[in-house]
Amino acid sequence: MGHPVLAAPARPVADPTDPAVRRLLGDMDETLTAAGGIGLAAPQVAVGRRVILYEVPAARNDGVAVPRRAMINPVLVPLDPVDDGPAVDSSWEACLSLPGLSGLVPRARRVRVEALDSDGTPVAFEATGFHARVLQHECDHLDGVLYPQRMTDLSSFGFVDERSTASVAPAS
Ligand code: NI
Repeated sequence: MGHPVLAAPARPVADPTDPAVRRLLGDMDETLTAAGGIGLAAPQVAVGRRVILYEVPAARNDGVAVPRRAMINPVLVPLDPVDDGPAVDSSWEACLSLPGLSGLVPRARRVRVEALDSDGTPVAFEATGFHARVLQHECDHLDGVLYPQRMTDLSSFGFVDERSTASVAPAS
């Protein structure tokens, strides 16, 4: 946080088959694995391009894992939920660009996504819950937005280690 590339809108990828995009995805894959993270956006490795890489563990997605995958030039549209629940849900987020910190962030519970996959093939789908949250967090990086900017109450923003030692800890 604080690096200009993280605060600037990233530029679209003109040719997803460009070898430079292959190399970028390879670098991001290594970084995400080394960090043990769930998602990563190109600006987090100092590349201002509209590329994200993410996965969703089964335990966070009603038992359905989303294998690691790349999205190039993704576009998100928030949708109303299919059930009658609220359209927005608040939950804890952390970010590899803000090490050690977390906070409660409101996000749309359901989104529609259009993007190119790592081969440049168009994909379109809907995502809900934690999957939708990951996509919103990563796509925000492409617009120069970090999760604290989405928080409506900064009182939950703080260091994970400090919170875990407090007498009143959030459910985990
Ligand atoms: Ni992040």
